[in-house]
Amino acid sequence: MDIVIRNATLADGRTEVDIAVQDGRIAAVAPRLPVQGAREIDAQGDLVTAPFVDAHFHMDATLSYGLPRVNASGTLLEGIALWGELKPALTQEALVERALRYCDWAVARGLLAIRTHVDVCDDRLLAVEALLDVKRRVAPYLDMQLVAFPQDGLLRSATAFANLRRAIGMGVDVVGGIPHFERTMADGAESVRLLCEYAAQQGLMVDMHCDESDDPLSRHIETLAAETHRLGLHGRVAGSHLTSMHSMDNYYVSKLLPLIAESGVAAIANPLINITLQGRHDTYPKRRGMTRVPELMAAGVTVAFGHDCVMDPWYGMGSGDMLEVAHMGLHVAQMTSQQAMRACFAAVTENPARILGLEGYGIAPGCHADLVLLDAADPVEAIRLRAARRVVMRRGRIVAEAPRAVARLDLPGRPASVDFRHTGGAR
Ligand code: FE2
Repeated sequence: MDIVIRNATLADGRTEVDIAVQDGRIAAVAPRLPVQGAREIDAQGDLVTAPFVDAHFHMDATLSYGLPRVNASGTLLEGIALWGELKPALTQEALVERALRYCDWAVARGLLAIRTHVDVCDDRLLAVEALLDVKRRVAPYLDMQLVAFPQDGLLRSATAFANLRRAIGMGVDVVGGIPHFERTMADGAESVRLLCEYAAQQGLMVDMHCDESDDPLSRHIETLAAETHRLGLHGRVAGSHLTSMHSMDNYYVSKLLPLIAESGVAAIANPLINITLQGRHDTYPKRRGMTRVPELMAAGVTVAFGHDCVMDPWYGMGSGDMLEVAHMGLHVAQMTSQQAMRACFAAVTENPARILGLEGYGIAPGCHADLVLLDAADPVEAIRLRAARRVVMRRGRIVAEAPRAVARLDLPGRPASVDFRHTGGAR
């Protein structure tokens, strides 16, 4: 075997498991494997997980924070206006450089698959060319999936639909949309219909920014679910953000949730961004703005947490750490039971992998040897500690390593070293 990892804990609760890796694939997963690895790694009981997956990101805007200025109001709409100011000054070189830099961060964090939206409302399609180039260059390290995103509105921007079609022709994977930014609710619904019909014709997946507002009467997720059902797109469509669901009438939501589940539309919440951008027009109490994650999960909807933004016109923080995203999601949704905390871990690993349709994802024989050894005993501890990535493996190659986190005290009667693990008591 090329590599054998000994004594690992898996996210499903199995412990003392060995993982054998050969020719870029996982060859075996079982206790005390009777094989020898050219390299042996002692997990020491730590968690080995399939890589983190980000189902919602904007790699064309990342690391542009402060260009040309900072978002003063903190709102989504000022962010969109600011991005509009920046767009004419973008160069392909700068776009590629910032995206590659972010991919370095991602790999170091064990984030090995990213679905990124790319704005198609710049007629030059510079960002599309840049991110297609980046996708090719980083393919040995991480999977990128591109969404053609009409940031200025499919119908509101005169050239958006033509540009979106051009972007798909150039190799962009997924059809995007932004119905809540169209001129009217009717135009928003029309944009959903047009985009879903186009995706059905082309055999493509759909991922729309949908109802990203505090408006309790925004209804585009209803239209997206209905169009998905009408066109037979079940399992190929995601609604991103869905923040209006936070503010909707409870009776209406009790009708909406089964419609979303019936259509097989997945939901992608972006907790760091939703808690930051939404509720900006409130005094007190201020709404949190994140969609109804536990209720969607209970209804059988696949829910992922996305990062959305890192240091861009909308958000001045972030570092590509999906455990930080899960940590915020857990708090905002008050998902504090053991089962709910584990569901938050799934929302940045297996759930987004399902939404992206990743092939060979998982810790099982035959899967790609893509994995992360965390400095944590289980998924809950991983979120609590935003645990260090001891080893990041891609196709059987170690692409990042970090030491275990240890704090050292020098007090009489105290142990020489202290770590952050939970010992004793129930997990
Ligand atoms: Fe977004």
